[in-house]
Amino acid sequence: MTEHLDTRLLHIGSAPFDPETGTAPVSLPSIRTSTVRFESLDALDKAMARRLAGERAITYGRSGMDTHRALEDVFMQLEGGSYCVLAPSGMAAITIAFLGLVRSGDHVLVADCVYGPVRNLDRALLRGLGIEVSYFSAGRDDVAALIRPNTRLIYVESPGSLLLEMLDMPALAAIAQERGILLATDNTWGSGYIYRPLALGADVSIVAGTKYVAGHSDVMLGAVIVKDPAVAARIHSAQYAMGNSLSADDAWLALRGVRTMAVRMPQHARNALEVCKFLDSRPEVSRIFHPAWAKDPGYALWQRDCTGSNGMLSVALRCSRQEARSFVNALTLFGIGFSWGGFESLVQLVDQSALTSHSYWGSQEHALVRLHIGLESTDDLIKDLGQALDRIGATG
Ligand SMILES: Cc1ncc(COP(=O)(O)O)c(C=O)c1O
Repeated sequence: MTEHLDTRLLHIGSAPFDPETGTAPVSLPSIRTSTVRFESLDALDKAMARRLAGERAITYGRSGMDTHRALEDVFMQLEGGSYCVLAPSGMAAITIAFLGLVRSGDHVLVADCVYGPVRNLDRALLRGLGIEVSYFSAGRDDVAALIRPNTRLIYVESPGSLLLEMLDMPALAAIAQERGILLATDNTWGSGYIYRPLALGADVSIVAGTKYVAGHSDVMLGAVIVKDPAVAARIHSAQYAMGNSLSADDAWLALRGVRTMAVRMPQHARNALEVCKFLDSRPEVSRIFHPAWAKDPGYALWQRDCTGSNGMLSVALRCSRQEARSFVNALTLFGIGFSWGGFESLVQLVDQSALTSHSYWGSQEHALVRLHIGLESTDDLIKDLGQALDRIGATG
């Protein structure tokens, strides 16, 4: 019998029984170590042979022990993948994926809606390594026509950062597959729980576990999940070469966080929809960006490809930048901060310069505010948003 994902997420990483006492704690402890001791040279030889064959093997602290293995299992279950490489942050996972999948002389097509620091990775590292990157609009461009003879990778994010633009993942996968190009996607929004790009044809899914997987705003974590062993070997090799490693305590915190994912995610989604309804009734709001909101242009793709939603939304406000600043400063329950995916509500006044490269951004909007809707009472959140929206016009 195949158990439901919710059940599997609760049982991965149960501690084994002590053979002497027949007892065990519920969860695996955080196994911190640098050195791995081997019972004999035969045991060491076996572990090294497994590692050489590309299998998961415990050989040294950098690659982690049982706590890490359990967290890898979590990501594989979430994403429906067969291999997982952990990283110390989402951005580190993105870097591992790029360096594992492309070489000097290769070209990468990157969707213009991706997480902003990917452009910095391009400027700071990829360019110098002779890796060519060009950006495309998933909504407007004929992607097939942009593929060059040396294009090896299409890198996307769906829904995109800041504006939550839904991409047609199966269509992109078909274009990539036809030409033998890999398709990698940032799936931090879906985190495998509400959106599974590997099942829609993507080859590589990258998750900043910092957000919904860990879920409590106290961990930095990334993961790269793949299906194909040859692709997995390239990702493993990049990770090994770069010496990235995740602390056992962070792996343990993420395991603890994931136990409540099944209740957190739908609650974030319900709260966000309540907030959307409220915002839609306010004259200061010109547009809501949230793929599960029926008026969002990505709603049909969201209905087709996703099994749920979360607390992320952006709001375009009919006001000046100064009024938008007053709105953000007036909020009392929303922390001003860049991240999201924790239990709490957050707000970010999006910098206009971050939007100019997003083709999905219409120039008619005045100010964009990104909200992460947390697990607080929506009555309180709506009251807070209402009093802050009242400042618009009053301060202008
Ligand atoms: C969509 C997306 N991908 C990746 C990252 C990077 O994750 P981390 O902050 O763990 O490096 C972020 C962080 O905000 C993000 O929003």
